[in-house]
Amino acid sequence: MEKASRREFLRRTGGAAAIALGARHAGAGEASGAAERVVLGIIGPGGMGMSLLRSFASRKDVAIAHVCDVDEKRMAAARDAAGGGGKRPEASKDLRRVLDDRAVDAVVIATPDHWHGPATILALAAGKHVYVEKPASHNLSEGRLMVDAARKAGKVVQVGTQSRSTPHVRRAVELIRDGAIGDVLVAKAWNSQLRANIGHAEPSDPPAHLDFDLWVGPAPMVPYRSNLLHSSWRWFRAFGCGDMGNDGVHDIDIARWGLGAAVHPTSVAALGGKYFFDDDQEFPDTQYVVFEYGDIGGKRRQLVFEQRIWSPYVQEGHENGDAFYGTKGMLILGKGSGWKLFGPRNELREEVKGGIDSAAHHADFLDAIRTGRRPHADIEEGHLSAALVHLGNIATRLGRTLRFDPAAERFTGDGEADAMLAREYRPDHWAVPKG
Ligand SMILES: NC(=O)c1ccc[n+]([C@@H]2O[C@H](COP(=O)([O-])OP(=O)(O)OC[C@H]3O[C@@H](n4cnc5c(N)ncnc54)[C@H](O)[C@@H]3O)[C@@H](O)[C@H]2O)c1
Repeated sequence: MEKASRREFLRRTGGAAAIALGARHAGAGEASGAAERVVLGIIGPGGMGMSLLRSFASRKDVAIAHVCDVDEKRMAAARDAAGGGGKRPEASKDLRRVLDDRAVDAVVIATPDHWHGPATILALAAGKHVYVEKPASHNLSEGRLMVDAARKAGKVVQVGTQSRSTPHVRRAVELIRDGAIGDVLVAKAWNSQLRANIGHAEPSDPPAHLDFDLWVGPAPMVPYRSNLLHSSWRWFRAFGCGDMGNDGVHDIDIARWGLGAAVHPTSVAALGGKYFFDDDQEFPDTQYVVFEYGDIGGKRRQLVFEQRIWSPYVQEGHENGDAFYGTKGMLILGKGSGWKLFGPRNELREEVKGGIDSAAHHADFLDAIRTGRRPHADIEEGHLSAALVHLGNIATRLGRTLRFDPAAERFTGDGEADAMLAREYRPDHWAVPKG
């Protein structure tokens, strides 16, 4: 596979006045006072990936060296979008080409969920820092492998839960953790974003511009169907995590953060299913999940998740939101709009408005790379929150209360549930994670 050299890339992208981060680390000649550029590869510039590409491309301290998508149309659109100012990134459909380029400091992984773990683990093994979209993992066991790989490599892995860098959300969590509403025993996250019916589709030929074999990757091969991609893969178990892992995980992450739950829960109970949609989706459109933490600060605590993705009504003014119930008050939060803090008897004490600050999250990733600190949404946090999605979906499928051993990351005495913590792979595929 052809390797672009770092020096050649910097010359091509007008990098004479700037020097890339990795070059500095490698001891290559650094002009005094030169800005440090992080050289990025964007893997999966689809819906979210294009938004990430535009955000990173707008920064002076970043150079986009590669765009990689298994869909040639998307790859070409991404190359055009990243190529402003005459800087043309390499374009490819096989992520190994990006990882093989020693000029690349970091990769952004915005593929479907089933590629998050495999691509992150391969990228870390290639010495790259990683920004991986949420949910961190497709399944719980890959989440653990991702954390272990990050620690082994000593690289930054930021998960795309941008609320972690959003000022009004950070302030709310700080207040909660400082006791502004007393002791928070219950946190609730909800998702009531309206979703579309994806219909029923028969197997058909994939479009010529799509490498469907690469798209499926390490997952077991399935026939192509028109309602599988793009974007609607998230409703299929082999590739996504349903809406709990899609929009739900943002609010679940905030709820867990405010609750101070830096561990896995000890129990999970759930009910739900497809009460509304008659289509090929494999995940619940209606879901109620309760997690219990056995001991946080000497007390049992609950995290509750509710999902109704067919209802035109919202809770507390937010289609996705969080409520924190404390012994002295309550805080209601919408990550995209703001929060209200109430004292006893619903007395409004403080109200703050604010929108999601994705750029701050991207800046945090770059700063973590430069300083060697953990990012706001470190992979360990991403793993803990994605694990709630996986446990919740497993409990909903099984329809019974499950006991979980947080240290072993296994259910207690439930082989059927344990089997759902991992997934099947395509035999001998190059991207199957080791271990
Ligand atoms: N942080 C957020 O707010 C947010 C919002 C939306 C989506 N997301 C996340 O972003 C990810 C992508 O979601 P989306 O809605 O953009 O999906 P999408 O299907 O529109 O885009 C995924 C892209 O990845 C490409 N791809 C698939 N396999 C690949 C591979 N092996 N190598 C290179 N490219 C590959 C696809 O061709 C497609 O262009 C998901 O994990 C999703 O959860 C995050």
